[in-house]
Amino acid sequence: MIFGKYVNKFYLKYWYHFVFGIIFLVVIDLAALYVPDYLGNVVSIFSNPDRANDLATFWTGDMSDVNSYAHFIMSLVVIGAVIFTGRIGWRLAINNLGVRVETDLRSMLFEHAEKLSVTYYNNQKTGALMSYFNNDLEAIKNSFTEGVIFLIDGVVLGSLAIIKLFQLNWKLALVAVVPLLLVGMAGGIIGKAISKKYDKQLSAFEKMSDFSQENFSGIAVVKAFVREGHQMLEFAKHNKRSEDTNIAYIKLGIMLETIIDMLIYVVLIIIFLGGGYLAIYDPVFDVGNLTEFIGYFDLLIWPMIALAYLINIISEARAALKKISVFLDAPIDLKDVEVANDKEPAPITGDICFNGLNFLYPDGKNRVLSNINLHIHAGENIGIVGRTGSGKSTLVKVLLKIYNIDRGMILFDGKDINDIPAKVLRDNIGYVAQNAFLFSDLVSKNISFGKPNITPEEITQAASFACIDGSIRQFKDGYRTLVGEKGTTLSGGQRQRIAMARAVVKDPTILILDDSVSAVDSETEIKILENIRRLRKNKSTFIVSSRISSIQSLDHIIVMDKGQIIGYGTHAELMKTCELYKFIVKAQELEEEEK
Ligand SMILES: Nc1ncnc2c1ncn2[C@@H]1O[C@H](COP(=O)(O)OP(=O)(O)O)[C@@H](O)[C@H]1O
Ligand SMILES: [Mg+2]
Repeated sequence: MIFGKYVNKFYLKYWYHFVFGIIFLVVIDLAALYVPDYLGNVVSIFSNPDRANDLATFWTGDMSDVNSYAHFIMSLVVIGAVIFTGRIGWRLAINNLGVRVETDLRSMLFEHAEKLSVTYYNNQKTGALMSYFNNDLEAIKNSFTEGVIFLIDGVVLGSLAIIKLFQLNWKLALVAVVPLLLVGMAGGIIGKAISKKYDKQLSAFEKMSDFSQENFSGIAVVKAFVREGHQMLEFAKHNKRSEDTNIAYIKLGIMLETIIDMLIYVVLIIIFLGGGYLAIYDPVFDVGNLTEFIGYFDLLIWPMIALAYLINIISEARAALKKISVFLDAPIDLKDVEVANDKEPAPITGDICFNGLNFLYPDGKNRVLSNINLHIHAGENIGIVGRTGSGKSTLVKVLLKIYNIDRGMILFDGKDINDIPAKVLRDNIGYVAQNAFLFSDLVSKNISFGKPNITPEEITQAASFACIDGSIRQFKDGYRTLVGEKGTTLSGGQRQRIAMARAVVKDPTILILDDSVSAVDSETEIKILENIRRLRKNKSTFIVSSRISSIQSLDHIIVMDKGQIIGYGTHAELMKTCELYKFIVKAQELEEEEK
């Protein structure tokens, strides 16, 4: 059981799980407490010559006689049944509670993760993010399952057993309980050390799996640089570290168990000695009482250990909750406006105004775009060229509203980008990023990603637009081919074209192709450009490309250099006015001739 901003509400929301879980646990604890009592009674009857009468009625008496065999057996059956059903009850209640809390928290995390900006992710390691969803969530869940069980067992069963021990004989109870408290303390202290070792082992394991994951992703690079041997050595180091930390963890666990076992046996010896003495010399303490005493002592061992574990469960859960809270508290730094439900959003036509736009990435130091002034009319096809790093990708990315833009700098149909809900804007834009990322899913699912409820015909149409339909049909499973992680089973050009199909499938008002045909052969490129002309009449398309052939026939071409627009016009105009453009054209002509 832990408390904190993001978990408190679960106590209210799932109160019935708590209440029923706790009731069942308490009932079982109470039932368990009867067993030593009954056993002690029977032993008393059997061992005490003064109770010969009782012994006779023990066999013959009926159930109403508390000292009868029948009553004894019946009681055990009832206790057994109570414990049996109680266990099913708490397991259902508590485990359900754990799973629900975990699922709710996971949804909360994912929802928040989806809202966080791209910038946030640029500064995060995927491994750390994943651990919120795995280890940290697990630790918090444990505090709701084991945490509740250990707390109830520890407190209820523990205190009841102690009371019973003291009722039987307070002196003997004192010598039995005090060392047992030591067991609890030892458990607490060593348990802390164990969880530290566990953390170390976990992080060693994470590092090892990070390493292997990266190795697999970059296997082509590893091979190209003949670094297999080096990778193996590195892996061996990680593996050894994982082994060492694991063994250290196991050793400490064995040590704790041994210490607990030893202490318990020592206490048992003390009880036998002291209790034996009492059974002989104390007139009111017989062998039956000793049996009962040992029974309660046995019941007390688990609560002590449970409380010790509880301390660790709580401290691990607190640490996990702290980490998760930091994540959940991370501000959603993109300013957005709500989509108005009552009226249709004004259509986005593709009329875009850049008004002295200056832009720097939130985590960057230098201006990436400066003083961009441009008016793009609806339905225009725009090419963007320039050297690498000149800001071409940035210029199209700012249109997607994934970064905050100062007011008045970008207007769609005269309306400030800050006043248009991101959803409305992005619904109207088809974006093919420079690195065509695909999900490890079916080809068809990848294409329909932005518009899940579409017909197979729409999917093939989009694929035909991107000139990839033919290739997909040649795959063994056609549109049902599974794309490997990061699309490794596809060529770069195929990946780019599937990503393009994903963008055009929603027939967006504005289509952005960021270097999306760089890996496509020139013949196919011509076909794609032809499709854009034919099928995207009256719709805007931005084509970022380092190849002049992709853009020279477009309505207007933007030439970028060092974050500024240094040329704007048609191909023919730019050949006259823009030195850099001329230079790029000449350089590519030379390249062509060399081929
Ligand atoms: N996410 C980012 N965060 C910070 N700086 C970035 C980011 N993306 C690009 N940059 C920087 O912005 C500049 C322009 O990059 P980019 O728009 O990708 O150029 P281009 O597409 O013309 O090659 C580069 O100097 C690059 O280092
Ligand atoms: Mg780029």
